[in-house]
Amino acid sequence: MPAYAVIGGQWGDEGKGKVVDYLAQRADMVARFSGGNNAGHTVINELGEFKLHLVPAGIFWPQVTCIIGNGVVVDVDVLLGEIDELRGRGVDVSRLWVSDRAHLIMPYHTLLDALEEGARGQGALGTTGRGVGPAYVDKVARIGIRVGDLLDLDRLYPRLEYVMRQKNALLTKVYERPPLSLEEVFEQCRRWATRLAPFIGQVEYAVQKALHEDKRVLLEGAQGSLLDLDYGTYPYVTSSHPTVGGAAIGLGLSPRHIQEIAGVFKAYTTRVGSGPLPTELKDSVGEQIRKIAREFGATTGRPRRCGWFDGVAAHYSATVNDFTSVILTRLDVLDNFPSVKVCVAYEVDGKETDQFPSDVSVLERCRPVYKEIPGWHLPTAGMTRLEDLPEEALAYVRLLEKVIACPMSFISTGPHRHEMIQVNNFL
Ligand code: IMP
Repeated sequence: MPAYAVIGGQWGDEGKGKVVDYLAQRADMVARFSGGNNAGHTVINELGEFKLHLVPAGIFWPQVTCIIGNGVVVDVDVLLGEIDELRGRGVDVSRLWVSDRAHLIMPYHTLLDALEEGARGQGALGTTGRGVGPAYVDKVARIGIRVGDLLDLDRLYPRLEYVMRQKNALLTKVYERPPLSLEEVFEQCRRWATRLAPFIGQVEYAVQKALHEDKRVLLEGAQGSLLDLDYGTYPYVTSSHPTVGGAAIGLGLSPRHIQEIAGVFKAYTTRVGSGPLPTELKDSVGEQIRKIAREFGATTGRPRRCGWFDGVAAHYSATVNDFTSVILTRLDVLDNFPSVKVCVAYEVDGKETDQFPSDVSVLERCRPVYKEIPGWHLPTAGMTRLEDLPEEALAYVRLLEKVIACPMSFISTGPHRHEMIQVNNFL
């Protein structure tokens, strides 16, 4: 019966990979439900350091079945590369299943992602360029190619021919680029089919079975709630639903199964790509956070924009997800600041508000109202007991709980699996 969701509470990169790797020791299944290889989940455990883009971070635990759900868009080359690397480093990948309903990121999607970004000029979204948006567009337009289509190449060919006629018209007539070869793309599908076939299944049955057998199913979010297609800072969003609702649709499970919903939050704020970020620090403090935390994208290597913790955005995220607990990460990054600030309200057009606006032009005008508290000047990195936290660090944690209006379940104090303080139960 119980499913436990782990959801990004901010703009992604909250450290969900480490959290899921840690929590998966108590799980039977870990299922990814949205996004594609725009995600980059870093995991460091006794097998070494891994950067996962598609394979769920539960793969390192032998009892865990890993699922890539229908809500994910799959670049098969990236997935096969990850599978090869994991195998090469001694990880058993026979427990990995990919939904036959998941859509494929095709070569034209990656091309169009770059061309569409170029055409947006100043208004570019700063996508990861992995073809994720265009793949979801085709899904909704009902011209997507699904993982399961690889299992029937004869049926796939005429569909691909139809879709590629449209894509090539777009490439040549709108973007004045050379067309893609249907035969080459089809050959690529044939190669993918041979290698991916053993991993393909109707995974919603496996998820349902696990839930009805009272197994513990961990729902692995990707990206963050403020990048959600509906609840994020539209149009500066991703094209899927990283909020908890996405888990139900993206895996084929009833929301009634989701018992706990943990929001993962960094102790400060980062964002990669374009779009408003009210607490962004464009000064030496922002630079200091980026340097200490090595805030560069795991997928694209781009420097992340850094700022103080945005309590208004966090509270909004907790509201749309109804988080039952918060998992705080990277507290140690703030170990050496004389004081730390938390945004507790916005000031916009001469008024103060605690609401996160839906209109990005309003959000762009919002100025943070901060509560400032003393720093702790003591290392918290690697701590595993709440009682060892310096008093000021604990005060900071309690302040975050107050502004998010949600209790903590865990505090991550470093990138390694064991660097974790359990505050309350989650799984
Ligand atoms: P897309 O998902 O590649 O289309 O990118 C849309 C926006 O979401 C861009 O601002 C990206 O930087 C951002 N984005 C997508 N995936 C991630 C992620 O995993 N972490 C952080 N930002 C992301």
